[in-house]
Amino acid sequence: MDRWNGKVAIVTGASSGIGAATSKALARHDVKVVGLARRLEKLKEQQAEIGKNKFYPIECDVTKEQDIVKAFNWVEKELGGVDILVNNAGLAISTPIIDAETAEDYHKVVDTNLIAPAICSREFSRSIKKRNAVGHIININSIAGLYAESLHIPLGMYGPSKYGLRALGTELRHEIILRKLKIKITNISPGAVLTDMLKGIARSEMPTDIPILKDHDIADAVMYALGTPTTVEIPEITVMPHNEIIGVPQRVRDLVSFNSIEYYI
Ligand SMILES: NC(=O)c1ccc[n+]([C@@H]2O[C@H](COP(=O)([O-])OP(=O)(O)OC[C@H]3O[C@@H](n4cnc5c(N)ncnc54)[C@H](OP(=O)(O)O)[C@@H]3O)[C@@H](O)[C@H]2O)c1
Repeated sequence: MDRWNGKVAIVTGASSGIGAATSKALARHDVKVVGLARRLEKLKEQQAEIGKNKFYPIECDVTKEQDIVKAFNWVEKELGGVDILVNNAGLAISTPIIDAETAEDYHKVVDTNLIAPAICSREFSRSIKKRNAVGHIININSIAGLYAESLHIPLGMYGPSKYGLRALGTELRHEIILRKLKIKITNISPGAVLTDMLKGIARSEMPTDIPILKDHDIADAVMYALGTPTTVEIPEITVMPHNEIIGVPQRVRDLVSFNSIEYYI
């Protein structure tokens, strides 16, 4: 990670969960982090914890193109450009597609999980090109973007948006090679992670003792991908919880089929 010392990262959705944990891990490696999210007060709490010259909060709704462009322009002017992009901001609305009254929620999910990473990647590539710099894009995907067949709970447009995010990474890699830019792309697909998103989906039915990942487990995967030598690119990392089945209570075994991964998102 030493080669990233003093470099700049933009982390979308830095106000909680995986984005907050990744911001802290980057700052520990002396990377300056610009955290984007809608809840500015949460970002300011991050800044108080991480440090004023280590974490820069920017209020940004990633479904608004002008907010994203404004944030990248600020980074260009104040910090000289961006070297690492973590496309992490995400949204899951679990209303079944066939039950929705209108397409409003479809758009919200796709705008957040797929269109925003495309816009951020465009702005990021411009910054890298302008400085002939070396960069890395990390897309926080999901097991829902790898094995939708295993999800037996309705997650609306979440899975389709995450499959799209995977394809976005591949498309960007083709374009980056053609343009001879020095940007790596890594797609990270976690199983269930104990964050606000999961609590929101599971509501009160959420068992507290299922095998589950922590936000810092995903931050560790981000650091691993970033820490590889310049000659190594890791396109995909899948992170699953690992527990001794023997240690899982019967109540949880009844809830979760161990022949499938239905409890992962
Ligand atoms: N938790 C899981 O089990 C799990 C599993 C696999 C993948 N993931 C992925 O991990 C990523 C992070 O989620 P999380 O689990 O850490 O959940 P989380 O704690 O709910 O974090 C979601 C983040 O996204 C931000 N966000 C949402 N909509 C936004 C918008 N329109 N503009 C700007 N920021 C927005 C939120 O910030 P504000 O509300 O402040 O805007 C928040 O910081 C997501 O992409 C998710 O799909 C999660």
